[in-house]
Amino acid sequence: MTEIILKTNNLSKKFGKNFAVKNLNLEVHKGETIGFVGPNGAGKTTTIKLIAKLLRPTTGNISIKNNRNILQDISVNSQDLISMGFLIDIPVFYDSNPNVLLKHYAKLHNYPKEKINQRIDELLSHFNLINWKKKRIKTFSKGMKQKLGFIQAIFHDPEIIFLDEPQTGLDPKARIKIRQYLKTFKEQNKTIFIASHMLREISEVCDKIAFINNGEIIKFDRIENMEKLLKTNEIICQLLNPIPLEKLEFVINKLNEKLALYLDKNLDPIIFKSPVQYQPSIKELVIFYDGNPESKGEIFKILGKDFASDFTIISFSQSKTSLLEKLYLEKIK
Ligand SMILES: Nc1ncnc2c1ncn2[C@@H]1O[C@H](COP(=O)(O)OP(=O)(O)OP(=O)(O)O)[C@@H](O)[C@H]1O
Ligand SMILES: [Mg+2]
Repeated sequence: MTEIILKTNNLSKKFGKNFAVKNLNLEVHKGETIGFVGPNGAGKTTTIKLIAKLLRPTTGNISIKNNRNILQDISVNSQDLISMGFLIDIPVFYDSNPNVLLKHYAKLHNYPKEKINQRIDELLSHFNLINWKKKRIKTFSKGMKQKLGFIQAIFHDPEIIFLDEPQTGLDPKARIKIRQYLKTFKEQNKTIFIASHMLREISEVCDKIAFINNGEIIKFDRIENMEKLLKTNEIICQLLNPIPLEKLEFVINKLNEKLALYLDKNLDPIIFKSPVQYQPSIKELVIFYDGNPESKGEIFKILGKDFASDFTIISFSQSKTSLLEKLYLEKIK
């Protein structure tokens, strides 16, 4: 097991009566890339701000490795921690220019003096901002500010970086640059914590995903474990007309009863409450079955024979969403 470098212990943050973050328990190991995924308002930015000490927890605490390799409660002492970089929300800068800003930042982080100029040029060139080195940040576009924010987060080559929606406002080229950068960062066994609501984008770079909703972690695991959990066999039936609401319970019960022999008995009840599901908005009936071709055949026969008066199926299809996306959507319902 690799070493834990960040740990939150029942971390909560309340704004007024509402919990923005609730009893968050996270352990991050050195070298991991963690995706922190949740819908708008889930508590992602708040969590990162708590870690950055821009906000104070209501209860609970955060420990981070210090330079003596000991986990240290940051509310007690935030000196001598391993070096960290942050890109939080949409970065706001004083109206100077990248050169002045980054020099100032380098000094704050005790970056070796003789290397500062070279580092600034290298990073600004890499992100196509070199011609803007001495231009006022006030005149920058959203994406340019975001790139500058990323440069600031990684400038001092920290041990761990926290990125809050790093791809916001970036064009495809800049996204690729950032992804490449994260890859090299990872190869150096450094730790990355990325918050996003773009699951697809994030699952390409992460080892683990923490799903957060309403301030609470609803699942935190390695991506491959989640996918294993989600391997399902399903039949998606597109219906011609919606099932009338007053008949819905009856029809679902009847499906469960008539198809009982062939349905998937090993579904994770936290993710899929029932092996038969109906989505009224898209008139779709989803049947999770046991995966045997014979069972599938029997299900088709029964649907045709016993349900003719309940609904009309106009097509069958495969799932269009990835397993992870499915888990995400089910979890944040
Ligand atoms: N300063 C504040 N005062 C009051 N409420 C706040 C404050 N900051 C955040 N909140 C509330 O806390 C909750 C979590 O917000 P947060 O910004 O952490 O969400 P998020 O997951 O980053 O969302 P997004 O994807 O939109 O960036 C929201 O309900 C938000 O309204
Ligand atoms: Mg946010």
